[in-house]
Amino acid sequence: MSMPEKVRLVEVGPRDGLQNEAQPISVADKVQLVDDLTAAGLAYIEVGSFVSPKWVPQMAGSAEVFAGIHQRPGVTYAALAPNLRGFEDALAAGVKEVAVFAAASEAFSQRNINCSIAESLTRFEPIMAAARSHGVRVRGYVSCVLGCPYEGKVSAEQVAPVAKALHDMGCYEVSLGDTIGTGTAGDTRRLFEVVSAQVPRAQLAGHFHDTYGQALANVYASLLEGISVFDSSVAGLGGCPYAKGATGNIASEDVVYLLQGLGIETGIDLDRLIAAGQRISSVLGRANGSRVARARSAQ
Ligand code: HMG
Ligand code: MG
Repeated sequence: MSMPEKVRLVEVGPRDGLQNEAQPISVADKVQLVDDLTAAGLAYIEVGSFVSPKWVPQMAGSAEVFAGIHQRPGVTYAALAPNLRGFEDALAAGVKEVAVFAAASEAFSQRNINCSIAESLTRFEPIMAAARSHGVRVRGYVSCVLGCPYEGKVSAEQVAPVAKALHDMGCYEVSLGDTIGTGTAGDTRRLFEVVSAQVPRAQLAGHFHDTYGQALANVYASLLEGISVFDSSVAGLGGCPYAKGATGNIASEDVVYLLQGLGIETGIDLDRLIAAGQRISSVLGRANGSRVARARSAQ
C-alpha cells in the first residue's frame, strides 16, 4: 500500500483542546483562535460542542463562538453534538457539520455520555435523520480505540463493530480516537487492518493523543495503512475531561512538519499555524505543546 499523496487535517484544538481547560477562556480568545487557524489554511476546524454545560463547562459559549468567527468559504466549521438537543442547538447556531461520539469501551461510554454504547448509537439515530433532512454532514468518533482509562487495553475487535455502526447509520467518516494515548505503532496498524474490513480506509481517520509520546509514530503507522485524515490540535492543546491523565492531542504543527518531510500536501502554512499556537499558548499562560513550534520559536 502506498502513502497518500494528500492528507486532510481536522483541527480539533478549539474543541478537544480547550474543553479540558479549567480556567475561563473568553469568547473573544476562542474566536481569535479559530480565525487564526482559518488564516493558517486549515480546511476543517472543530469549533465547539453543544453538550451539557454541567458536563463540560468550557464549551458553554459555543454558539457565541460560532456567531463571532469569520467563516471562509470552503472551510468546514464543525461542532460536537451528543444528542438531538445538541444537534438542534448546533443547527440554531448555524452549524453545517456535526460530529457524534461513541466509545469502544462500556465504562468510558458511561462516564463520558452517561449511557451504554448501544444506547448512544440509538441516541444518534434521530440526529442522523434530522441531519439528513437539513443537509448537515455527520462525522463519527469512536473513543478509547487503543485503551480505556477504566478498562485497560481495548482490542481492535471491540472497535470494529462500533465504527461499522456509525458508518452504517450515515457518518461519512469515522475517526478512531486513542483518547488516552497509550497505543503504539504496532497497535495502530493492527487497528486499521481490522477496522478497514468493516469501514473503507478512505472513510477512516486517526485521532491520536500524545500522552505516552507515541502520537507522531501512530500517524506514520496510519499513513502506512493508507489513512489520509488526521485530527490534531494546534499547540498540542487538549485532553479529555473523562480520561484522567490524558494529555493533549498530537500537535498540528508537528503533523504538518512530518507531512512536509514526506512530500505530502496539506495546504497549511506552517509559520501561520505556529503563530496561532503561540498566541493561544500565551493566552493560556503555558508552554506551547508543539515541539516544532518550540524549536522554531527559540530560533
Ligand atoms: P445526562 O445528564 O445523562 O442527560 O447527560 P440528561 O438528558 O439527563 O440531561 C441532563 C441535563 O443536561 C439537563 O439539564 C438537560 O437539559 C441538559 P437540567 O434539566 O439538569 O438543567 N442537556 C443539555 N444541555 C446542553 N446541551 C445538550 C444537552 N443535553 C442535555 N446537548 C449528555 C447526557 C450526553 C448530555 C452529557 O453526558 C454530556 O453532555 N456529555 C458530553 C461529554 C463530552 O462533551 N465529552 C468530551 C467530548 S468526547 C471526546 O473528547 C473524545 C474525542 O475527542 C475523541 C477521543 O479523543 O477519543 C471526541
Ligand atoms: Mg480527543
